[in-house]
Amino acid sequence: MKTIFITGASSGIGLETAKYFAGHGWQVIASMRNLKKAKELAAVPNVTLMALDLTNPEQIRQTCRDALKQYDIDVLFNNAGYGIMGPFELLPEEEIRRLFDTDVIGTMLVTQQFIPHFKKRKSGAILTTTSLAGIIGLPRDGAYGAAKRAQQGMVESLYYELKPFGVKMAAIIPGGTKTAFQTPVNILDGYEEAAARQRAYLLCGGTEFPGPEEAAMTVWNAVNDGKDQINYPADSVCRKLIEEYQNTHVEEFKKHFYHLIFDGTQS
Ligand SMILES: NC(=O)c1ccc[n+]([C@@H]2O[C@H](COP(=O)([O-])OP(=O)(O)OC[C@H]3O[C@@H](n4cnc5c(N)ncnc54)[C@H](OP(=O)(O)O)[C@@H]3O)[C@@H](O)[C@H]2O)c1
Repeated sequence: MKTIFITGASSGIGLETAKYFAGHGWQVIASMRNLKKAKELAAVPNVTLMALDLTNPEQIRQTCRDALKQYDIDVLFNNAGYGIMGPFELLPEEEIRRLFDTDVIGTMLVTQQFIPHFKKRKSGAILTTTSLAGIIGLPRDGAYGAAKRAQQGMVESLYYELKPFGVKMAAIIPGGTKTAFQTPVNILDGYEEAAARQRAYLLCGGTEFPGPEEAAMTVWNAVNDGKDQINYPADSVCRKLIEEYQNTHVEEFKKHFYHLIFDGTQS
């Protein structure tokens, strides 16, 4: 039976991915910082629950070691994370540090624990949920976008380190997904209209964001498609936005996006 280790499996993309893989015959190690939130998963066959808080380095080491001792893990899915949003000068230092401790350092420490295992077995995959904010700079995302770009940087660098060992590195990239996504800091302060236009941009003509089911299927494809591919937009909406971004020269995109967000017009 193949095995996937997931961080942030208590809700959203992590929970949906845990259910999807368990439903397709995989052993799932569903890690989360608060095991009381495991209610739904606790009843799913082939799911093992483990405690893992990305801001607790000792627990990261212990949980990863326990998981690797008990299971021959095929896939690590770094998914846990959250965001803070606001005009850059208004983001409190302690919130920036907490965000980076979680999304960046925590994700890196988990990944470090798994790399020797994957190098030794010469197969497997490490996937990380990044964000469209890690590809395109969005206003009020100075800290979150930087954290997600750091994750993208880790993914791209490790692609080269791990490919010789037959290990796949990939980013799962949501634009907007309908989940419990947390933004404990969310300051508008003069950017109200820009934020509304940014939301409309991410909705890409839709009225609500796609649910996490499409993201779970994208994780499944990334693991099973046999493709040498780093970036996987989490859903069809995000795929369209990334294609538009990549097909436009960066300086042109910048002008186009500025007008779209601040004037509500196309350049
Ligand atoms: N939803 C979006 O629009 C969107 C867009 C771009 C990127 N993303 C990324 O997608 C990933 C999944 O988020 P989601 O949308 O599925 O939101 P979600 O429903 O809030 O799930 C996030 C998960 O991360 C966990 N988490 C937060 N801080 C943690 C910590 N210190 N240690 C361990 N786990 C922690 C949460 O645990 P608790 O339940 O205990 O809080 C939860 O399990 C995140 O990396 C997020 O940045 C989401």
